[in-house]
Amino acid sequence: MNETLRIERRTDRVTAVLDRPEKRNAIDQRTIDALHGLCAELEAEPRTLILTGAGGDFAAGADIAQLRARRADDAHRAINASAFIRIAELPMPVIAALDGYALGGGAELAYAADIRIATPALRIGNPETSLGIMAAAGATWRLPEIVGAGRAAELLLTGRILRAEEARDWGLVSALHPAEHLLDAAHALADRIAGNDPLATRHTKLALRAPRSEHPDIEKTLQAELFENPEKERRMTAFLERKEAR
Ligand code: COA
Repeated sequence: MNETLRIERRTDRVTAVLDRPEKRNAIDQRTIDALHGLCAELEAEPRTLILTGAGGDFAAGADIAQLRARRADDAHRAINASAFIRIAELPMPVIAALDGYALGGGAELAYAADIRIATPALRIGNPETSLGIMAAAGATWRLPEIVGAGRAAELLLTGRILRAEEARDWGLVSALHPAEHLLDAAHALADRIAGNDPLATRHTKLALRAPRSEHPDIEKTLQAELFENPEKERRMTAFLERKEAR
């Protein structure tokens, strides 16, 4: 059976391609299982993750054929939500590179990323209520954090699909690139991240994700660790000596 998640590994990053183009990369149980496997790998060996889709789409939702058969017990198991939470909590940054449809669970997977970029063909939104369900894999709490409560309510309560320019204007994606340059743009972001200190990056992500009540204590603890890290000494000395050599 073909893999629904194609994974390409490098020393400092992993690219995961949702690869079920004949179903617009709809996220089925096999994809969720593969995402859990990928998370286990990246929890053990932290690297930047680039998430993207094959065939000109990111993902047109959770797999509706599987969703139709799910019952209350399945809702309580939070099948998609638990995988997307694990992705959001990965130690290193997650970059979503979006083309075409990013709908329903596909949009929620994108909301779990730290950075989203897209092509002008992006169509993103949450039409769940049109199918008699609600967006329950992160949209109701992550989307307000990304675009603000009012805009999140409009999207989730109407099911309206945003076009790329509007998604960029709302800050839902940070930049648009032609489809042929989308992955290069994602790798350029990963290159920038790779040039920085990994522990400082991981601590910054932890602080970004911490609830308000944990600030500023969390920064004190994390920065204290970085101040004692030899890498800080090395990087700052390199900076200062470069200046003195001029
Ligand atoms: N789950 C399961 N299958 C899906 C799917 C989904 N979320 N999205 C698309 N597919 C399947 C279609 O059933 C079709 O399969 P088939 O060829 O075996 O009939 C195939 O992918 C291609 O989709 P199709 O609808 O023919 O393409 P289109 O270009 O006309 O429309 C969409 C694309 C995305 C607008 C349309 O597929 C759609 O509305 N999908 C569902 C979106 C949605 O409600 N997502 C939220 C789910 S929570």
